[in-house]
Amino acid sequence: MRTKIVAGNWKMNNDKKESKKLIKDLKKAIKKEKLKNTRVIVAPTFVNLSASLKAADGSAIEVVAQNMHQAKNGAYTGEISADMLKAIGIKTVILGHSERRTYFNETDASLAAKVDAILENDLETIFCFGELLEDRKSENHFAVVESQISNALFHLGADAWKSIILAYEPVWAIGTGETASAEQAQEMHAFIRSIVAKKYNQEVADAVSILYGGSVKPANAEEIFSKPDVDGGLIGGAALNVDDFTGIIKAI
Ligand code: G3P
Repeated sequence: MRTKIVAGNWKMNNDKKESKKLIKDLKKAIKKEKLKNTRVIVAPTFVNLSASLKAADGSAIEVVAQNMHQAKNGAYTGEISADMLKAIGIKTVILGHSERRTYFNETDASLAAKVDAILENDLETIFCFGELLEDRKSENHFAVVESQISNALFHLGADAWKSIILAYEPVWAIGTGETASAEQAQEMHAFIRSIVAKKYNQEVADAVSILYGGSVKPANAEEIFSKPDVDGGLIGGAALNVDDFTGIIKAI
C-alpha cells in the first residue's frame, strides 16, 4: 500500500512569524482529520526551517527543505549542504522543481549529483519533473518526462528507490490555475510507473509514491487524488492558506 502524501511547497513565502502561525493553524486543523497512511508535509524557506521544525514538533506535520547543494561543503556562496540540513533535523528535500530548473539552471547532471548526496546522507527526496507547454503541444511530453527521470535517477540501484518520492508537475499547470485533468495526470503517472517497472521491476514501481503538482485546489483535489497512480499532491499557492491546504488534505 503506497503512502499518500500532501506536501506544501511554500516557495519564497512566509517570514518566521507567518511560518510558525501557518503550522500552528494547520496542526489545529488536521488534528480532527484521521490521517490513515498519509503524510502531511510543508516546505518553508531555509531561514525558517528551524522555527518551523519547532512549531511542528509533536504533530503529524513534517518539515522539509526546498533544495540542497550536492557538495559536502566549499566555495558555493548562498548554498546549503545536506549536512547543514541534517544538523537541524531535516530528513527530506525537494529537488528539481521547475522553478529551479528554469531560473537557477538545474540540469539533469546536477540533479543526479544532488540525488547521490541525498542517498549518501540517508535523506529522502521529493524529486520534481514535468514538461513545458510546447512539449505537450508537440506530443513530446512522455519523452521529456522519461528523459528527466532516467537522466537523474536511473543510475540508482533498486534499493535507493525507498528514498525517492516522485512529483510530476507539468510546468504549464504551475501557478497558472490551468490544472492537468485527472485523466492527464493518471495517464502520465501510469507511464512514469511503467518506465520505473521496466528499468527495475514491478515491486519497485508499485512502491514509489508519485505526486501530482500544478494548480491543485480543494475543488479539484478529490478527482485528481482518486486516480490509481496518483498518490497525492505537491501544492504551491493553496498550501499558503490553511483552509485550502486542509481542504486538499481532506480530499486524499
Ligand atoms: O511545487 C508545487 C508547485 O509548483 C505547484 O504550484 O501554485 O500551481 O499549486 P501551484
